[in-house]
Amino acid sequence: MIASLREARLTDYAAINDLATALVHFPADRRASLDAVLTSAEHDLIVAEVESEVIGYVHLMTYQDLSHGALAADLLGLVVRSDMRRRGIGTALLREIIRLATKRGVGELHVNAEPDNDAALSFYRRHGAHIVRTQLEFDLAGGSGRRD
Ligand SMILES: CC(C)(COP(=O)(O)OP(=O)(O)OC[C@H]1O[C@@H](n2cnc3c(N)ncnc32)[C@H](O)[C@@H]1OP(=O)(O)O)[C@@H](O)C(=O)NCCC(=O)NCCS
Repeated sequence: MIASLREARLTDYAAINDLATALVHFPADRRASLDAVLTSAEHDLIVAEVESEVIGYVHLMTYQDLSHGALAADLLGLVVRSDMRRRGIGTALLREIIRLATKRGVGELHVNAEPDNDAALSFYRRHGAHIVRTQLEFDLAGGSGRRD
């Protein structure tokens, strides 16, 4: 499957919002978030298109890790529309974001996946990632946008 990759735009909102809902399993109004991401030098948001339809995205945030004295990056979301999976599109998005992060001088790229997300765990392992620690989370009121 040939997908073309490009930087996201505000006009991709509807498709990105659907993909984000599929990723985190809850709806939200993500307009302000998309606007902030697109105007921040610390964020990269790349979409995959097939026949002019956005069917996947990858979102990376790059930051200074003071403890390491180096640039690090978090992969904040990688999702491919369910009917387009297992065709190499996730791989293309991941490779592009790794290329961008490497070019910037990022030393460590982190990604989280739910422990029961076998597809994501297999996918990331297949691409060379390994488990280094467990993530803990504080749920602060109103912090996640989650409604459940
Ligand atoms: C994880 C995800 C992005 C992979 O995208 P994709 O386009 O299907 O991935 P690819 O086709 O490039 O897969 C490459 C390899 O990853 C592994 N993989 C992908 N999906 C898998 C699955 N469901 N089960 C087992 N291995 C899987 C396989 O090794 C696969 O190679 P193969 O198809 O030759 O066996 C996709 O499943 C997805 O969008 N999931 C929902 C969102 C999510 O959980 N994102 C990750 C957390 S941020």
